[in-house]
Amino acid sequence: MKFGHFDDKEYEYVITNYNTPLPWINYYGQDGFFSLMSNTCGGYMFYKDAKLRRITRFRYNNVPRDYGGRYYYINDNGTIWNPGFLPLKTKLDSYKCRHGLGYSIFESEKNDLKCELLCFVPLNDLCEINQLTLTNNSNKVKNVTLHGVIEWCLWNAVDDQTNFQRNWNIGEVEIDDKTIYHKTEYRERRNHYAFYHTNIKHDGFDSDLDTFIGLYNSWCDPSAVLNKTSYNSKASGWSPIASHMFNLEIKPGESKTIIFQTGYVENEDDKKFEKLHVINKEKAYLLQEKYATKEQVLKAFNDLKNKWVTLLSTLNVKSDNEKFDRMVNIWNQYQCMVTFNMSRSASYYESGTGRGMGFRDSCQDLLGFLHLIPEKSRERIKDIASIQFEDGSTYHQYQPLTKRGNADIGGGFNDDPLWLIAAVSQYIKETGDYTILDDPTPFNNKEGSEKPLIDHLRASLNYIITHKGPHGLPLIGRADWNDCLNLNCFSKTPGESFQTASNFESGKAESVFIAGMFVLYGKEFATILKNIGKNDEATKILKEVKSVEDATIKYGWDGEWFVRAYDAFEHKVGSHECEDGQIFVEPQGFCTMARIGEDLGYGKKALDSVEKILTNDYGVEILHPCYKEYHIELGEVSSYPMGYKENGSVFCHNNPWIVIANTVIGNNERAFDVYRRNCPAYLEEVSEIHKTEPFVYSQTIAGRDAKNYGEAKNSWLTGTASWTMYAASQAILGIKPDYDGLMIDPHLPKEIKNAKVTRIFRGVKYNINITNTASGKYLMTINNKSIEGKVIPFDKNQSEVNVDISL
Ligand code: BGC
Ligand code: NOJ
Repeated sequence: MKFGHFDDKEYEYVITNYNTPLPWINYYGQDGFFSLMSNTCGGYMFYKDAKLRRITRFRYNNVPRDYGGRYYYINDNGTIWNPGFLPLKTKLDSYKCRHGLGYSIFESEKNDLKCELLCFVPLNDLCEINQLTLTNNSNKVKNVTLHGVIEWCLWNAVDDQTNFQRNWNIGEVEIDDKTIYHKTEYRERRNHYAFYHTNIKHDGFDSDLDTFIGLYNSWCDPSAVLNKTSYNSKASGWSPIASHMFNLEIKPGESKTIIFQTGYVENEDDKKFEKLHVINKEKAYLLQEKYATKEQVLKAFNDLKNKWVTLLSTLNVKSDNEKFDRMVNIWNQYQCMVTFNMSRSASYYESGTGRGMGFRDSCQDLLGFLHLIPEKSRERIKDIASIQFEDGSTYHQYQPLTKRGNADIGGGFNDDPLWLIAAVSQYIKETGDYTILDDPTPFNNKEGSEKPLIDHLRASLNYIITHKGPHGLPLIGRADWNDCLNLNCFSKTPGESFQTASNFESGKAESVFIAGMFVLYGKEFATILKNIGKNDEATKILKEVKSVEDATIKYGWDGEWFVRAYDAFEHKVGSHECEDGQIFVEPQGFCTMARIGEDLGYGKKALDSVEKILTNDYGVEILHPCYKEYHIELGEVSSYPMGYKENGSVFCHNNPWIVIANTVIGNNERAFDVYRRNCPAYLEEVSEIHKTEPFVYSQTIAGRDAKNYGEAKNSWLTGTASWTMYAASQAILGIKPDYDGLMIDPHLPKEIKNAKVTRIFRGVKYNINITNTASGKYLMTINNKSIEGKVIPFDKNQSEVNVDISL
């Protein structure tokens, strides 16, 4: 069952049924001011950090699930409704929520009164615009009362939910006839405030939650709305809100527009106040004047739309597969950009108060947006590398506002360091710019500890080389990519974090997955070294690679697939010898990508096993059979009920590894088959089962052993986005940035017979026409001349290159 449809021309998903199986959200913002917006107008806003600078309040785990947002109450002659259906749930005559790239448009109608609500965060400004237009489609004059309302969060989202005894005393606002300023704590240590503004004078306001709603009412029946009034309440402590009320007379055929703006302002310490207790509003006024008319809003909206069109023109495909094109051209790239902004911090599944930016997550995310924003990617690489320690180990996360390593979580995830090589090598391939290797980058953000970035990469490899276990395989530490494979944790304490507890440091547990990573990225680093003339060092690294490769062949092969790990007692994990968890997906993907045991046919066998044992209707499950019981020696992986999350769901993140691995062994049909199984556009038709947004990837889809087989969770903020982008563009379409030029090595399934790709690479436009006759023969011509090999040597003097490929 579908709840809407794609509008590819407008780059939108149009939700036409507000009863979606879960809230279907969208993101706005690019330079610090960010918003989450659901299809019922729920969600919240923050500046840079969803924990430390939360602007509006949202109550997670609430009843109903999606509560708190920007709510517009329209009282039309006693019929009261909201353009996004919630909170009132008044049945609408028509409803559309168009989620586009960085904006949403709600179009709804009730009793011949039409409402159009355009919501977005403009480029370069710290505010969210909500432009609301009411049109009277009846033949009688309508007298409408409109309330717009948001609820402030007292900045620190954790404190806001916990420290009531203080917070119910500190709320402060300032109000004029168009604006409610939220200035809690501004008198003391904060230099930022927020405001909710309208472009015309209101007819009344409220800023105290209990007054507006009425103590025994709710968002479904706010007293001010029911009574078509405002109490002009001035918040002092308790819960500050901002509400503007308007009494509008709308003639038949007439439209009235009001522009609401939620803004964020920071002032320098010596310019905080106009006079005692009165905040300096200069910057707020500037922001308000910029969006005071419909024309200004339209221009800002068009600028935003154009920015996306330009950005996405970096990579565009037109093939005979509409769903593939839609994902590659629009939604997959968009989701990658959202992970650039959010990492794993703020979604409808991540509270924004826990995790900041992950080392491993952010490195992998880069693979998905490097081609779109290479300069910002370079900055991001520096931020990430700066939380690494001199021995190559790293903090696992950092807070976006402070950019400092998060001491609460610490480090010890032994895959982390290697992801830095994945990111940096991809940066060089995309840009051709090796100078990034010289960028002075501190260790643990310590001033004076700066070393060229290449030394961080050396440290990364060295950490693995110096931390091996009894079989010569890399030690796993707290966990590797699979956060739930906690082989040194031995947790018995309820509620204890599996990731941070260390009850038993075996110094023995090893990871075959990290071995695969080491071989893949070790070889990559050796290539970089050769390219910059450091052949001796490259040879040394390749010797280390060989030793891990040999250890993997000897101890990491189970006969039909790669073993997953060795536990603290040197027992195999992910082997036919185990009762449960006999096969795990991760090493099958990574060791095949790294070509370990290629001449022995390992990759091929491993992928056959993946298909036979792990593949279900929605993709490849992470392991099989699921753990039935808690295994203290394995940790969180065995804590989940069967078929959920790391215990046997389709953990979508590693499905693209299987796609790529299949292209490595030349199995194009199977590669596309895996791609398709959990591609959101292909799951749109079964939205009632899949439940999450049909335009973005989710982290996990419940596996065959789960009660709710096929149900997805954790949409949006997942490494699935970047890896799938990588798999679709670089493995299936085969448009691969390489050190010396653009490699074109498509692995299309038979069903895609033609694909025309435009790719802007280092400023040159490549028009690539791929004809797939499935002949097994590869022929490339450039500007009508045939050339040897698969790499188009980069020539910056060309502005456009026409490439024909026949397969
Ligand atoms: C989840 C993992 C996640 C980890 C760290 C676990 O509960 O299952 O997917 O990576 O927490 O937050
Ligand atoms: C989600 C985490 O963000 C990611 O870092 C981890 O690799 C996966 N879960 C698998 O556990």
